[in-house]
Formats: sequence, structure tokens, C-alpha cells
Amino acid sequence: MRVAVAGGTGQVGARVVSRLRERGDDVVVLGRSAGVDLESGAGLAGALDGVDAVLDCTSTPAQSRVRCVHFFGAVARHLQTEAARAGVRRVVTLSIVGIDRMPGLGHYAGKLAQEEATRAGDVPATILRATQFHTFPLQLASQLGVGPLRLCLRQPVQPVDVDTVVSHLVRLVDGADEGRTVELAGPQVVSMTTAARRAYAARGRRRVVVPLVLPGASARAARRGAALAGEDTEIDGRSLDEWVAAGAPG
Ligand SMILES: NC(=O)c1ccc[n+]([C@@H]2O[C@H](COP(=O)([O-])OP(=O)(O)OC[C@H]3O[C@@H](n4cnc5c(N)ncnc54)[C@H](OP(=O)(O)O)[C@@H]3O)[C@@H](O)[C@H]2O)c1
Repeated sequence: MRVAVAGGTGQVGARVVSRLRERGDDVVVLGRSAGVDLESGAGLAGALDGVDAVLDCTSTPAQSRVRCVHFFGAVARHLQTEAARAGVRRVVTLSIVGIDRMPGLGHYAGKLAQEEATRAGDVPATILRATQFHTFPLQLASQLGVGPLRLCLRQPVQPVDVDTVVSHLVRLVDGADEGRTVELAGPQVVSMTTAARRAYAARGRRRVVVPLVLPGASARAARRGAALAGEDTEIDGRSLDEWVAAGAPG
């Protein structure tokens, strides 16, 4: 099978690329470092020729709603247009649980635009909405701090193991749940600050994690549990306890 992985150099994408190559798939990596800018579309023409499935694992560090909606929407539209031209069978997109309950957050507004543009294309679209990865509280806290102090959102999360996300993405790339939107979460609910403190401790780093309370309806919804699994969310993979006991890898 020939699979194009957009964002194939990123945290999730690189793992998917390794997993697909290990089982013998022919993988095309799409990203600026591979000469393809998916936001502008530069370098994409012809890149999907002979491809069976496209997986979108792109992301942007932008926070503003305008930038995020532009980035994710443009990437999804360019992928769908070129995939349709090249006769690709399916597009699979990695998204986030609860984004429609917190549309005021810039990244989530972008993810909603990405989902919409993906579904609006001619190629059947399958979407995996995952909860935050085990590494997310650390990633967030490492961006917001000074000295040993780190800020982390005060809200519950239900983190999922990134390798479990990779397994589910590969299943969808193979055609499972085609055309549907499915959800995935880990088995344990925990406060994000606790998750960050435990991960720092497991990695032997001395950090003081301070809860951050953001204003706005979406942030309030997040504090009330909008990012957690719902009734139809599949629960899979190792818990935060198990990930921390393994030394908080990744
Ligand atoms: N972190 C979480 O807890 C979590 C949970 C659920 C879902 N997700 C979703 O998972 C997705 C992947 O996240 P990640 O942490 O793996 O992202 P990441 O590590 O930041 O990787 C982003 C990827 O996007 C590519 N990219 C960025 N701008 C591009 C452009 N203009 N054209 C082409 N490629 C571009 C990058 O490659 P180049 O730099 O080479 O262009 C890179 O491969 C995101 O959409 C995120 O919303 C994340």
C-alpha cells in the first residue's frame, strides 16, 4: 500500500511513518522539510500520484484563531483537491475530542475548519478525534514558564498514549470506519496540573507547576470536562499511571 503522511516528521506523523514502513508500506512524507508546503500548496502537485490513502497529521504552533483556521483549512483543502485528482481512496485526519464544545480556542477553531474542509472534499474522509496525549501537559507547561515555575491549565484531561493513537490511525488508513468520525481516549481522568507534576517527577526534573485559569466560555467548558471522553469514545491504551511508571517517555 502507498500512503502519504502529511506532517510525517511530527510527533505523531513520524511514528506512523515508522509503523507503516515496518510492515512494508510505501510511505510518502509530506511537509515543508520534504519540500511540500501544504498551507500554500507549493510542491504538492503530483506528490499523491499512485497513493492509496492520505493521513493528515499536520499542526501549527500558531495560537490565533485567524492563523489556525487559515492553516488547518488550507492544508485540508489542498490535500483533498490533490487526492481527488490523483484518485486516492481515502483521507484520514487526526483531530481532537471535544473541539466543538470549545470552539473559542484558536487551535480548536482550526481543527473544526480542518474537519469541515476534509469532509467537504470528494475523497471519503475518516476522522479520528483523540484526547490529549500523555506528553501534552508537559509540552504546554514547558512553553509557559520562567525559572523552575511552569504554568499549566486547570482542567481535567483523559490522556491517551501516542502509540495507541498511531495504532488506531493505521487501522483507519487500512479502511476501518471509512467515512466516519470516531473518538479515542485513554483510561484515566486526571487534572492536567497533576499530570504535568507527575511527568516532571518521572523525568527527574524539578519544576513547580502552577495552575493557570483562562477566561472565556471555552476555557470554562474545558474546566467542566469538555475535553474528556463521551459515551461513544473508545477507551484504549496505557493509563497515565502506567506511562509515568515507564519513566514518562516520548
Ligand atoms: N498533542 C496532543 O495532545 C494532541 C491530541 C490530539 C490530537 N492532536 C493533533 O495531532 C496533530 C499532530 O500533532 P503533533 O504534535 O504530531 O504535531 P507536530 O509535532 O507539531 O508536527 C507538525 C507537523 O506538521 C508539519 N507542517 C507544519 N506546517 C506545515 C506546512 N505549512 N506544510 C506542510 N507540513 C507542515 C510539520 O512538518 P514541517 O515542519 O516539515 O513542515 C510536522 O511534520 C495536530 O493536528 C493536533 O491537533 C494533538
